[in-house]
Amino acid sequence: MTKKLKTGSKILFVASEASPFIKVGGLGEVMNSLPKALRNLGYDARVMIPKYALIDTEKFHLSPELEGIRPKTDDEDPSGLLVCNILKYEEENKTLAYFLENMEYYEKRANVYGYSDDTLRWILLSFGVLEFVKKSKWKPDIIVSADWQAGFVPDLIKTVYKDDPIISKIPTLFSIHNLRFQGMFDPQFVSEMNFDAGKQVITNLFDPNISNLNGMRRGIMFADAVNTVSPTYAREILTSDFGEKLDELLKERQTRLFGILNGIDYKGLNPSTDQSITANYSAKNFGNRSKNKIELQKRFNLAQDENAFLLGIVSRMDEQKGFDLITQIINPLFENVDFQLVVLGDGDNNYKTFFKDLETRFPGRVGTHLVFDGTLPRMIFSGADAMLVPSKFEPCGLVQLEAMRYGAVPIVRKVGGLADSVSDFDPETKKGTGFVFDKYDPFSFLIAVIRARETFREKKQWAKIIKNAMNRDSSWEKSADEYLQVFKTARDFHDQKI
Ligand code: GLC
Repeated sequence: MTKKLKTGSKILFVASEASPFIKVGGLGEVMNSLPKALRNLGYDARVMIPKYALIDTEKFHLSPELEGIRPKTDDEDPSGLLVCNILKYEEENKTLAYFLENMEYYEKRANVYGYSDDTLRWILLSFGVLEFVKKSKWKPDIIVSADWQAGFVPDLIKTVYKDDPIISKIPTLFSIHNLRFQGMFDPQFVSEMNFDAGKQVITNLFDPNISNLNGMRRGIMFADAVNTVSPTYAREILTSDFGEKLDELLKERQTRLFGILNGIDYKGLNPSTDQSITANYSAKNFGNRSKNKIELQKRFNLAQDENAFLLGIVSRMDEQKGFDLITQIINPLFENVDFQLVVLGDGDNNYKTFFKDLETRFPGRVGTHLVFDGTLPRMIFSGADAMLVPSKFEPCGLVQLEAMRYGAVPIVRKVGGLADSVSDFDPETKKGTGFVFDKYDPFSFLIAVIRARETFREKKQWAKIIKNAMNRDSSWEKSADEYLQVFKTARDFHDQKI
């Protein structure tokens, strides 16, 4: 049996977002569902994020935990800009989350990301976490920090706090949810002058050079173990095509690098109990999906027809998600093939304009909602026939997992977590949970969409795919167990047992 961290151990996740408090993307979702899964297995898992103004203190009944903590730096800070407090969130008398409160850097900002001093904001988070741990009675047995924003935690532990009797003893796991984001710069174009080799010790938050620091590189360099969110992405990032200029470093750290596929919250996302959809259904009996389809068509002003082939897109509108492929094939598709399209997402304005324009040109066939929405995704998954996820790269991807859970058939590119979670339907063996294409080009994508469209005409075949998709196990159970093993490995690396 592989070794795991002991039951009851204390695990602290550090990230820039965590649902239900604040969520911008998939990271926020995982920072909710993974700690929850670990708690269900008998571990004391908690998460710590900044207390942004957007987080509703009253709704979540946040209460004070600690006051007046300060980063351990040489900064002169006469106006006390860096002084922080800690708030906590409890359920049934158990603390589940901590918040780092600071007026200047979190409370005064309307958004989570996108400020010129973001690096400072995240370094402050890392210091805040460690100062809190020093003073708190609750001491984690491991700290898991996610993405570049929390990559400074392992760095500070091994440098600034290396002689601290408490902090230096804590092992760290650094989780890569998206290697593309490394700091305030585009890793493809960072100039030599601004290159951060990760060697400079962070002693001063007001240093003008601070915005050049690469939190992703530092997380990978200093953590006791590193993981990413799917086995395929863990292999892909060792190549220059996917490595975002960190592939050489990742290769050096390869023995400490693991890939664990994300799961989803199976209880919260359940088509047979979900109150936010019109009609409930299960993998055994999903006839009700057509009622949801009609509702969806109404909601998005599409022609109401339960036999229409209804495609959905639920996505952050970013190049990563394959929008260049979608925009290239969509016009010839509309001109030649009978289908409808609903689009939900926010992001790049060029793509938003593209879909708005499409909606005007094809009334009754295209419907859009181009701002973030919490419940619409489930309405779409419960009524759409298929979902488009043709990503250029995809560390894991949650949309295809949620879509399968609700019986919307994913059409995906064979990359990262999409390759690990969706299998191509084979009409001979009747196996497969979706449609998969390999090369990142519009023709390959188009063929996959056409294959899906043609298969949809064969009602029995299509019902089989829905069943296969809904029966796929995307719960956290197996993956949470893999995390527990990696935690133990991180501990062993830390204690130099490996
Ligand atoms: C990032 C990745 C996405 C992954 C999510 C959660 O958003 O881009 O692929 O599913 O993190 O791990």
